[in-house]
Amino acid sequence: MMPLLTVHGLSMRFGGVTALHQVDFTVQPGSITALIGPNGAGKTTVFNCVTGFYRASSGTIHLQDEYQQAEGIDLLALLGEPLQWSDLWQPHRLSQRLYYKMFGGPHLVNRVGVARTFQNIRLFNELTVMENLLVAQHNQVDSGLLSGLLSSRRFRAYEQAAVARASAWLRFFDLLPEANRLAGELPYGYQRRLEMARALCTQPRLLCLDEPAAGLNPNETKALSQLILTLRERFAITILLIEHDMGMVMDISDHLVVLEHGEVIARGKPEQIQQDPRVLAAYLGTQTAEKGGL
Ligand SMILES: Nc1ncnc2c1ncn2[C@@H]1O[C@H](COP(=O)(O)OP(=O)(O)OP(=O)(O)O)[C@@H](O)[C@H]1O
Ligand SMILES: [Mg+2]
Repeated sequence: MMPLLTVHGLSMRFGGVTALHQVDFTVQPGSITALIGPNGAGKTTVFNCVTGFYRASSGTIHLQDEYQQAEGIDLLALLGEPLQWSDLWQPHRLSQRLYYKMFGGPHLVNRVGVARTFQNIRLFNELTVMENLLVAQHNQVDSGLLSGLLSSRRFRAYEQAAVARASAWLRFFDLLPEANRLAGELPYGYQRRLEMARALCTQPRLLCLDEPAAGLNPNETKALSQLILTLRERFAITILLIEHDMGMVMDISDHLVVLEHGEVIARGKPEQIQQDPRVLAAYLGTQTAEKGGL
């Protein structure tokens, strides 16, 4: 089967720091793939590159397109090049690059079917739960503003669909009774679920979860694992998961990719990874190993 996501030779440098070096991995459609590794290994940086928050220093990130055509979507090309003086004389390139400047890479990557959550929750605390989900979906309407002005009927239909979608995901995450509460007032575990609901409202094919179980108690973590499995089974959503809770990772993942110091040191099924000497060495002495991680 063709991978849904192919990351090849991905490198990311911040000044003199090499956060990622020649990272290669694939995510099969319908899989739960986990990206693990000690603190500072570069896991979140991989997410930031894949979801368009950072422009990778080099490498390719390729998403199979919806119709499974061979060429797929080049996620880095989607971000366009940085704005340059010469663009001023080329209206097409100028508009493309201005669009990127205005809306940013994450917006463009999200539109082709990749959504994420954040290691440190990023919600609009002053908006209600429902409003958070509606804002996320504005991304989806191509001509949202224009059709709003030109055809109020089309706009209303869009709005109704957005509310319906938001309600469905709130129900899925058991958050419907909280729809009108301010996001900032919600308990921590609820905020984590709201972040997932927000990502799902954008109808992704690939959902990237950055430490979704961080700060959850064992019961909440178990419930979260179940929800992730259901997302895959019922909604055919492919999951790329960063997680330090090794119990959860080994339970639900089909495939693991292990990063250390910005490089992939192992790939394979959970049972292979658990016995890989390089992985065990990478975790030795780290917090996760002390907590009985691997
Ligand atoms: N914007 C940035 N500027 C400079 N350095 C960065 C930036 N983002 C990440 N780094 C560096 O890249 C390395 C990898 O960081 P990253 O956040 O990707 O690790 P991680 O595997 O997600 O760790 P953790 O498990 O603690 O979340 C670190 O050394 C970090 O300091
Ligand atoms: Mg991280």
